[in-house]
Amino acid sequence: MAHQLLQGKKGIIFGALDEKSIAWKVAERCVEEGAQIVLTNAPVAMRFGGIQQLGEKLNAPVIPADATSMDDLENLLNNSMEHFGGKMDFMLHSIGMSLNVRKKKEYTDVNHEWMLKTFDISAVSFHKLMQTAMKLNAMNEGGSILALTYIAAQRVFPDYNEMAESKALLESFARSFGYHWAKKARVRVNTISQSPTMTTAGSGVKGFDDFFGYADKMSPLGNADTESCADYCIVMFSDLTRMVTMQNLFHDGGFSNMGMEPAVLAP
Ligand SMILES: NC(=O)c1ccc[n+]([C@@H]2O[C@H](COP(=O)([O-])OP(=O)(O)OC[C@H]3O[C@@H](n4cnc5c(N)ncnc54)[C@H](O)[C@@H]3O)[C@@H](O)[C@H]2O)c1
Repeated sequence: MAHQLLQGKKGIIFGALDEKSIAWKVAERCVEEGAQIVLTNAPVAMRFGGIQQLGEKLNAPVIPADATSMDDLENLLNNSMEHFGGKMDFMLHSIGMSLNVRKKKEYTDVNHEWMLKTFDISAVSFHKLMQTAMKLNAMNEGGSILALTYIAAQRVFPDYNEMAESKALLESFARSFGYHWAKKARVRVNTISQSPTMTTAGSGVKGFDDFFGYADKMSPLGNADTESCADYCIVMFSDLTRMVTMQNLFHDGGFSNMGMEPAVLAP
């Protein structure tokens, strides 16, 4: 059900790869709520999935950008502002990729060059995006910047590998840069810590199916799905949350505050 919460707002959505992507659903919900959007993803991702079809459906330009490249980010932001005829109100960073996970390296035997590349893609890109946006003065007063994260930043999930440190870094960038954005233009910066979700990035983690079921049982409300995550992003982009900043917000059906759930022990 749409409430026109984003009427007149303009924003950029990173990371819609296919219909399962969290960003895909967020993009659809943004437009339902009255926003105009630009879609972006890595140049290589243009060959997969259907981001172009999503763009046509939502009347949104698709501008490729490798989120690790300052030149690509500058080009993306300049072209987006030209398209909108002004600055942005919101941005979603929905980007995650681990080279060591992809190449099935264990945490105790990672390739450290790959680890640095993982950090660059999954976390430093968030700083690069915010720095470029600040340099170009690309955000409207009171805007909202979000990134998606996971509870492995705070707790140990052995198979999440180097993505745990990526998410810790990402959340730290949200806090530190959030201060500067608040002072500059009352722009809010937050991370949403989402339940395990059946997407390309999620299911790349070893043992994901079993873990998905475990988290679903441990969470009193069950795992939060993609649709509810998209709803939460809409609220965070809206003016209703104008005083929320520098926070890591758990969107996980209660998982993060659980200690023990009898149903998990049941044979
Ligand atoms: N799926 C889960 O279980 C889960 C849980 C918590 C948080 N998250 C986070 O949600 C976010 C979105 O992931 P998803 O689950 O929708 O999976 P997804 O695979 O659909 O999305 C990941 C996106 O990152 C993009 N990407 C990779 N390298 C890039 C680069 N260099 N430049 C620009 N984009 C690049 C991919 O093309 C893809 O669109 C990620 O940050 C992920 O860590 C996912």
